[in-house]
Amino acid sequence: EKGGWSSFMAKEISEQPEAVANTIRGRVVDEQVVLPELEGLDEVLTDIDRIIIIACGTASYSGLVGKYAIEKWARVPVEVELSHEFRYRDPVLSERTLVVSISQSGETMDTLMAVKYAIANGARTLSICNTQGATIARESDAVVYTHAGPEVAVASTKAFVAQITALYLFGLHLARLRGTVEQGRAAELVAELRAVPDKIAKVLESADEIDQLARWMSDSRAVLFLGRHVGYPIALEGALKLKELAYIHAEGFAAGELKHGPIALIEPGQPVFVVVPSPRDPGSLHSKVVSNIQEIRARGARVLAVAEEGDVAVLPFADEVIRIPLAAPLFEPLLTVVPLQLFAMSLATAKGLDVDQPRNLAKSVTVE
Ligand code: F6R
Repeated sequence: EKGGWSSFMAKEISEQPEAVANTIRGRVVDEQVVLPELEGLDEVLTDIDRIIIIACGTASYSGLVGKYAIEKWARVPVEVELSHEFRYRDPVLSERTLVVSISQSGETMDTLMAVKYAIANGARTLSICNTQGATIARESDAVVYTHAGPEVAVASTKAFVAQITALYLFGLHLARLRGTVEQGRAAELVAELRAVPDKIAKVLESADEIDQLARWMSDSRAVLFLGRHVGYPIALEGALKLKELAYIHAEGFAAGELKHGPIALIEPGQPVFVVVPSPRDPGSLHSKVVSNIQEIRARGARVLAVAEEGDVAVLPFADEVIRIPLAAPLFEPLLTVVPLQLFAMSLATAKGLDVDQPRNLAKSVTVE
């Protein structure tokens, strides 16, 4: 059962190192990713000219993270769309389109109907699913299971990190088939991915510090989340977790959008979480996000930065800094999401709410 934890959610957050390790297990051969379940699809995967990822909620945010990795490594265009929008807009599909559905339960009606629509309209289908033998998995041409183990809390945590992991594995599998990442580089990426579980365990050590922070902030009316590149979907996920668990109005934004509107929301005392990209990122996004932090700080925002260990550039402008271990930029989401999950859970607990069973929500949404 809960095994000594105060809630299933607390237990499942703590199980994330294992969830990632279990999803990787058995899928690396000679330091290259090989997904045995996709054996037989080599020709299809070499031939596709487009990928559409479909999912709902948290699963769709894992898809957004996956887009950055798959495009970078496999050089195939990837779109991410909500399942319930996809099938009502007459999307352009062909036998060279791969529709990848992502679902923890494998029973989400919106996603199932979207998969059926894709099949009926001639696309190839792959599902990333956590529940063995689920309907969506059975309907698809192939399935890559996430091995996060059963997720009981309504709000998704360990399934999310396992979905991202599965998407990375799929991206590297595809890159190997298409020859878009050189073997030595692929081996380095595999090594980086394998190092992630221990790094998540390290982030989990800051649980008490985050709990304190959440308690101080338990009467917040609204919380904003900013991120850029792969930090952007994590900002969206941090906001969703806070809405569904703590019933606080929360929004996630791409940091680059700030001056196109959201900065108008900043007033003295407004809490803003900022997922800061690594200063080692070659794209110089780090300095752009640090300037965003300066801009909101100048307008009185209370800045809570999630930043890499040793990143001193954020120190003069952040009210709180939550540290994550060094990782390759594309793998950072597996680390940066953890403090945001802990924050939402602690804040909900501080408000006396049931974190496993938030009001109005069901674990598996089997109606449209
Ligand atoms: C959020 C959450 C939901 C699900 C969404 C899809 O914490 O759990 O947003 O991610 O309902 O569910 P699955 O993955 O079962 O298709």
